Amino acid sequence: MAISEEVIQYHDRTKHHPHRYAKSPDYLDWANEPDPFRRYDGVRLIPLPLAEKDPEADYLDLYERKNSTFQAISLKTIGTFLELSLGLSAWKSFGGASWALRINPSSGNLHPTEAHLILPPWEGNTQGGVYHYNPFYHALEQRATPGEKLWAKIREHFLTEGFFVALTSIYWRESWKYGERAYRYCNHDAGHAAASLSFSGTLLGWNITYLNALSDQDVETVLGFHKTRWKRFEEEHPDFLLFVHARSEKDVPREIPLELIQSFRSLSYSGEPNPLSNRPTDWHVIEEVSSKIVKPRTQGKSYQYRVHDSFQEKMPLQEATKIIRRRRSAVAFDGKTYMPKEHFFGLLEKTIPRNHKAPFDLELGEPSVHLLVFAHRVTGLQSGLYFLFRHERDLEEIKQRCHSSFLWKRVDNTPESLLFYLLKEGDFRSTGQSVSCHQEIAADGALCFAMIARFKEHIEKAPFLYRTLHWEAGLIGQILYLEAEACSLRGTGMGCFFDDAVHEVMGFSDNSFQDLYHFGIGEAVEDLRLVTLPPYHHLAKGKQS
Ligand SMILES: Cc1cc2nc3c(=O)[nH]c(=O)nc-3n(C[C@H](O)[C@H](O)[C@H](O)COP(=O)(O)O)c2cc1C
Repeated sequence: MAISEEVIQYHDRTKHHPHRYAKSPDYLDWANEPDPFRRYDGVRLIPLPLAEKDPEADYLDLYERKNSTFQAISLKTIGTFLELSLGLSAWKSFGGASWALRINPSSGNLHPTEAHLILPPWEGNTQGGVYHYNPFYHALEQRATPGEKLWAKIREHFLTEGFFVALTSIYWRESWKYGERAYRYCNHDAGHAAASLSFSGTLLGWNITYLNALSDQDVETVLGFHKTRWKRFEEEHPDFLLFVHARSEKDVPREIPLELIQSFRSLSYSGEPNPLSNRPTDWHVIEEVSSKIVKPRTQGKSYQYRVHDSFQEKMPLQEATKIIRRRRSAVAFDGKTYMPKEHFFGLLEKTIPRNHKAPFDLELGEPSVHLLVFAHRVTGLQSGLYFLFRHERDLEEIKQRCHSSFLWKRVDNTPESLLFYLLKEGDFRSTGQSVSCHQEIAADGALCFAMIARFKEHIEKAPFLYRTLHWEAGLIGQILYLEAEACSLRGTGMGCFFDDAVHEVMGFSDNSFQDLYHFGIGEAVEDLRLVTLPPYHHLAKGKQS
């Protein structure tokens, strides 16, 4: 069977249906819950400073890098970069249990995504190193030292100062709760984490570029995974390698020459990954599909999006880092608050890929995801079903594939970048809720989104694009989270939805386009039983060793 067929088969068998959910554990085996914090035991731990003062930036500066001056790479700035992207955001406790939340969201708060940094030499660290980021201690764990010679070659290749960040996924963390569908969520989470890094880097004036030519094996080699002793099913799987650099608005290579990758092969890597569970379970469907969706080396590619125009917002000024730090998922919405139309259009605008604007200038790929909108409560907008094309290319084809009764009426007075259409007027609260696994947050908010991606053609062209499509959905999800906060509302990603029920709402009769992710926005109803503690209160003096 062709790999693309196997990927499509995985996608089909992990669809939720109203009468049959994708296969997951019969019960939650709490004694076996995976540790959300990976450690590499037996290595040098380098504590990162927590930001004494956040970068001063308005919320629009999250998207506009030119407003933030370039900050030199140092332990201090790397600390801020990670604290504002993948660090802890709070601790919650209830009934004797406590758990950490992070700046980046994760399905079920299970956090399958790990980060590794490959840093050049800097003051007090003469050789640079390959490090794992430990968010619990906000510290780097040093696994290898590439040395100055290798770094000189890297600099020569990229023609700029910079460093690398790799993201990896531990599938078992998600499959423990979500079973076979978990592979999708790991990829959503990687997309959220990539956007988090992009926003945080932007505030430091840093550019971040996805090195899209590299293979999974290249990334594994750089991270020393070939020399790491993994516990079965608790392996980290490479998502991607990002290059963080100073070359504002100039192109950087998307590859690393093979000979440089090979130089990492001869390094010695230390550190033993901590066991995460007593008895990890074999979700062989995930093992199988992930072993097939392997990214090979490809031609490096850069992408052209929309031209670099500025956002015109009429919202009260808000500090960017406050929005980043207070981002949370709502567990319930109040069922009555409206979102003003101009905020809604401002939010949609942020989802349109633009050159040199975060987070799309990561250049994860061709924009392939569009937004079906269940608009319940937007002031000045008739409630109903709407559609936003994030790329004009798919406009005619999607129109043809949908119900012929749809109006396709272009919404008046929207910003010029928005191809935003009314499909059907009416109350879609119960439809939104029922296609989102009956979750009330899909009906009680101001809006609910379904992310519709060009699917079959991409998977047949290159099966690894299955991952890229989910990253793109996660990237959009992260924008929606921050935009919701900027409007003094709250968002929630929803990985649970009835796939084909949404396709029926659209009128799709095949898998040319598929729904990949849902998202709700509204006024949150807080769970007042929970106690909130500061993110790093546990790092009292002497604990970080
Ligand atoms: C990919 C993804 C899927 C999610 N799916 C759901 C969902 O179906 N229902 C829900 O209530 N929350 C969902 N969430 C929200 C998570 O449960 C939430 O991010 C996590 O508990 C951490 O809390 P925080 O976002 O407040 O940091 C999802 C989040 C992500 C990133």
